[in-house]
Amino acid sequence: MIEIKHLTKTFQDKSGPITALRDVNLSIEKGDIFGIIGMSGAGKSTLLRCLSTLETPTEGSISLDGVDYSSLSGQQLIELRRRMGVVFQGYNLLMQRTVLQNVMFPLSLAGVPKEKARERAMQLLQMVGLENKAASYPAQLSGGQKQRVAIARALSTSPEVLLCDEPTSALDSLTTKSVLELLYDINTKLHVTIVIITHEIAVVKAICNKVAVIDAAEFVECGSTKEVFADPKSDITKLLLGREEKKHG
Ligand SMILES: Nc1ncnc2c1ncn2[C@@H]1O[C@H](COP(=O)(O)OP(=O)(O)OP(=O)(O)O)[C@@H](O)[C@H]1O
Ligand SMILES: [Mg+2]
Repeated sequence: MIEIKHLTKTFQDKSGPITALRDVNLSIEKGDIFGIIGMSGAGKSTLLRCLSTLETPTEGSISLDGVDYSSLSGQQLIELRRRMGVVFQGYNLLMQRTVLQNVMFPLSLAGVPKEKARERAMQLLQMVGLENKAASYPAQLSGGQKQRVAIARALSTSPEVLLCDEPTSALDSLTTKSVLELLYDINTKLHVTIVIITHEIAVVKAICNKVAVIDAAEFVECGSTKEVFADPKSDITKLLLGREEKKHG
């Protein structure tokens, strides 16, 4: 479904060029819950930003269902973006708007009539278990609730892919578990392909069928979660697994 080929992303910084991604190759299949794991600064968010068209690759290509991003015109890019929902670590909710208005927002942008948008937003809030918070403001919600609203909003335009950048790293372990269960349900019941970026092995183990490990701008290993974690090849995977063991005894 998503094909990344020879993706390199270089930023021009005051101190010189910074290569955030170097020759990354990756295939994500329809129905995957694909985990991308790595340490801070490895290039994870840059990859997600390239996938969501927020950044343009310096070299290489990304395609969705065989269509290269770089071949798309303005209107086609808008349509492509509607096929992808994005969820961020910091929720990125509109603080001056209610929960319901937040979820309705992408629908309003897409020109959906208000009544229809409201109906759809209420359905989604029900799905994430927050229909009783529709009239609340984000500031009145817990972190886990805010992330549920962000997930509902990301799903409002019925995307085929949900791109999540550290969706649970600001949450405690119990809340993390419930948000991951929600993502798992979205994948199995709504057939939404999910890409999830994290620095926690536990997140990948909980819900990802596949995983790619990224270290210093390069992908060092990739495959089924079971196989990669049962027989880690790279030092960085071993290090991440070792940390996880320490944490849980
Ligand atoms: N807009 C930018 N301009 C310059 N450098 C950037 C920019 N965005 C990212 N970088 C650099 O690219 C590298 C990768 O950053 P990125 O945010 O992708 O890492 P990350 O893996 O998401 O890290 P974290 O786990 O801390 O979120 C870092 O060295 C970062 O400083
Ligand atoms: Mg990041």
